Amino acid sequence: MELLKERILKDGKSFDGGILKVDSFINHQMDPVLMKNIANEFVKRFSDLNINKIITIEASGIAPAILVGLALELPVVFVKKTKPKTMEGFYTTQVYSFTKDKTYDVCVSNQYLNEGDNVIFIDDFLANGNAALGVKDLVKQAGANLSGMGFIIEKSFQEGRDRLLDKGIRVESLVRIEWLGENSIEFVE
Ligand code: G4P
Ligand code: NA
Ligand code: NA
Repeated sequence: MELLKERILKDGKSFDGGILKVDSFINHQMDPVLMKNIANEFVKRFSDLNINKIITIEASGIAPAILVGLALELPVVFVKKTKPKTMEGFYTTQVYSFTKDKTYDVCVSNQYLNEGDNVIFIDDFLANGNAALGVKDLVKQAGANLSGMGFIIEKSFQEGRDRLLDKGIRVESLVRIEWLGENSIEFVE
């Protein structure tokens, strides 16, 4: 997605260690016009599917997911990272965060994810893919079907993409980053 590449080059900040900061348009301040373009691109890429729901995870996935849901007029469910008082009625799984070096519980109510649902997952970043694999597990527990996963930014030098493809998941990333260094960003191809 050319528009997004240009914006990353203009306003993204990259750091040694492979971190890309996009706080001025995705992760802190948001650009809703760019987000709408991002959502339209997801809608186009997944237009062959017959889904009935969008699934995402707190927090940064919610904005793109809700705009996809708006475009398709479909409900958007977000997986929660805070444990409810009682886990009754919730599917839960554990996610290991590489950046924070800790494991946390994520959950979704069995009211909002059901057998027979056909969903796509939308998130901002694909890094190691742990959050995505956690969501895949929740979808499986619910007996729902996962038709694809869409990411705004894929860090292709990390293992997430291959781990998802290995599990037979369809992955659509709007930009793919080959390499990140101090003030230097290289896209795939
Ligand atoms: P993984 O799920 O792909 O395995 O990701 P990892 O544990 O490596 O990353 C944890 C968090 O850091 C995720 O957000 C992920 O989106 C984010 N992240 C990973 N690499 C980058 C990066 O280069 N730049 C930015 N801006 N974020 C990155 P999260 O903690 O789940 O938080 P939220 O923002 O969705 O609330
Ligand atoms: Na995220
Ligand atoms: Na994030």
